Order: sequence, then C-alpha cells, then structure tokens
Amino acid sequence: MESVHGQRKNEHLALAELNYKKNPPVSSLDAVRIIHRPLPETSQADVNLKVDNADFPWDYPFYIEAMTGGSAKTSEINTSLAAAAKATGVAMAVGSQSIAMKEPAQVAGFEAVRAANPNGFMMANIGAGHTVEHAQRAIEMLQANALEIHINAAQETVMPEGDTTFYWKDNIAKIKAAVDVPVIVKEVGFGMDAQSIAELADLGIEYVNIGGRSGTNFAEIEDRRNRENPYQYDFLYDWGQTTAESLLEAQLAPHHPTIMATGGIQSPLDILKAQVLGAETVGVAGHFLHTLLKDGEAGLIAEITLWQRQLRELYALVGAKNGSDLVHVPYVLSADLQNYLTQRR
Ligand SMILES: Cc1cc2nc3c(=O)[nH]c(=O)nc-3n(C[C@H](O)[C@H](O)[C@H](O)COP(=O)(O)O)c2cc1C
Repeated sequence: MESVHGQRKNEHLALAELNYKKNPPVSSLDAVRIIHRPLPETSQADVNLKVDNADFPWDYPFYIEAMTGGSAKTSEINTSLAAAAKATGVAMAVGSQSIAMKEPAQVAGFEAVRAANPNGFMMANIGAGHTVEHAQRAIEMLQANALEIHINAAQETVMPEGDTTFYWKDNIAKIKAAVDVPVIVKEVGFGMDAQSIAELADLGIEYVNIGGRSGTNFAEIEDRRNRENPYQYDFLYDWGQTTAESLLEAQLAPHHPTIMATGGIQSPLDILKAQVLGAETVGVAGHFLHTLLKDGEAGLIAEITLWQRQLRELYALVGAKNGSDLVHVPYVLSADLQNYLTQRR
C-alpha cells in the first residue's frame, strides 16, 4: 500500500503521460529559427559534443531531467531511466527525494537508481524549503555528483496539499554553502525572469536551470489531481515564461550563472536552439518518460542514441565544432517572441 505522498508521485507520472498523449507539447523554441548558412566549413567527424565544464564533464550536452522516485512504480521507472542513462552515457537527475526524508522505506528505491548506473553522473533533487541536513542526505543516498534544488511556487499554489510559504533565498544560500557538490537551482516548468536569475547569482549559485513553460505543465497536473474540484485553476495553465522567453530573460540579466534549460524539449533541434540562446546543457523529462512508457527501455535507449547522432549532425550543419561555437549561430525570433524581448528590454 502506497503512502499518500507515494500516491502523489504515481499521480504525477500518470497525469504527465496522459497530458503528453492528449496534447503533445509544442516547443516554445519553434518561435526561434536558426539561419541556414550553406558553407559550414565543418565535418561531423570534427564535432565534439563534450561539455566543457569541470563540474559537469559530460560527453553529451543533454540529459534525463528530474522526474520521479518514492513509490514502487516510480522507483521502477527511475531504475529504467538509470539503465538507459548508463547505456547511452548521458547524465540523469532523480525526482524530488523529499519523500525519502519522511519515509525511510523509500531510500532503497533511490539507492537502486545509483546501483543501476554505478559510474554515471547522477543528480540529487530536493525542494528549496528543505534543511541542509536533508540536502546532504539526498546527495548521500544517491552518491550524487550534483544537487538540483527545485523552486516551484506556482506548482505548490495549485497543488491541493501544497506549501503556502516561499521564503527560500536564505535557505538556498545555506544549502549551497554547506554541500560539496555543484548546486543547480531549477524551476519545474514556469520559467524565470532576469531579476530572479541575477538574484540567484548574488546568492552564490553558479548553475541555474530556467525550467520554462511549454512542456510538462504542473499547474494542469496539480489541478487535475484535485478529483473533487478539478479545473479550479485553469486560469494558471499558461502561467510563467516559456523556455524560449526564459532563455532571453537570462540574456537580459545583468549578470547570470551558467544557464541550463528544460521545458518542452521535443527534438535535437530544440536542444541546439536552447544552446544557441545560451544554455550550456539541456534537460529532457516528459518526452523521455513518454518514450520509455511507450517503447520500453530499449526504445528509450534507441531514442537517446538517435538524438546523440542527430545533435552531432546539427552542430556540423550550423558550422559548430563544439558548444562554445554555438554562440555565433545567427537566428531570428517570431514576431511574438521579438515583441516579448522588446518589452522586457
Ligand atoms: C512525472 C514528472 C515528475 C517530475 N517531478 C519533478 C521533481 O520531483 N523535481 C523536479 O525538480 N522536477 C520535476 N519534474 C519537472 C522536470 O524535471 C522538468 O523540469 C519539467 O518536466 C519540464 O521538462 P519537460 O517539458 O521536458 O517535461 C517532473 C516532471 C515530470 C514529467
């Protein structure tokens, strides 16, 4: 029998997949067009996809983003994600480990994720309201190489049993100062603005995942979890900045940490576009979950392998030999997105 918290994890998973199938996400990065240049002067063999960052020494600039864990069903999914990460050499984050702080029986499920990929790059995940001790336990339980701290005020607002207090900045700074792995502060799909990104930099945060809108929608998921009174928050389904808008916000920030992106990534071209707009690395959640549930572990491994090949092809197509060359790639924005940028400048 699952606990109430474990049941919530199962519902997140089921509703994310249901929504994905019903309304496949349209990436906000469709509003960004890369300018084709027919003389790239490159070769696919000369492309190096490695991330040039000692904290994240990854072979590929995209990874499996935080989703789940904390119940029998979701631990099984997490272990499959870890096996796919191992087979393809991509990094992976687990979903929030807060459940394992309250229910020690759930620790084993997270330990199993590490056991499925003993040498892979694994990221722990905890909410911004948790104590330093919880953050440290989350890292230990996974022998994590990095820690994601998620910030999710909009999700908590809609969540029937959600938190009502969002004093997070001091706590984030305390966790960052205490732990000895790189810390990423991430949104869960409502995006970020320039000021918040600069404030995180001021707190000493070196990595920010802008976690933008246009993919998995936690306003909708939490609203639908309220079976007795669903659709009470449908006015918040479009709340927040899209992934494309959030990446432009990061460009507008007076100073900013290294940027990571997630939210609505549907193809290797979306990864490339997010990188062209300034993300060093790009996380994929809903699409990989859907692939796993539809095609199994072998199907997910095939999809990630295909994306790795296609991303290399795209780098060569735009004349980039590595991630840092992507800043020179020209692009245009849709009229709407340009309008957003003009108003926010
Ligand atoms: C089923 C599910 C559960 C999630 N749980 C968490 C979580 O516990 N912690 C977190 O930081 N993000 C969580 N996320 C958010 C993802 O990490 C990601 O930021 C978001 O889904 C947007 O990416 P996507 O559009 O590729 O799904 C979850 C996503 C899904 C699909």
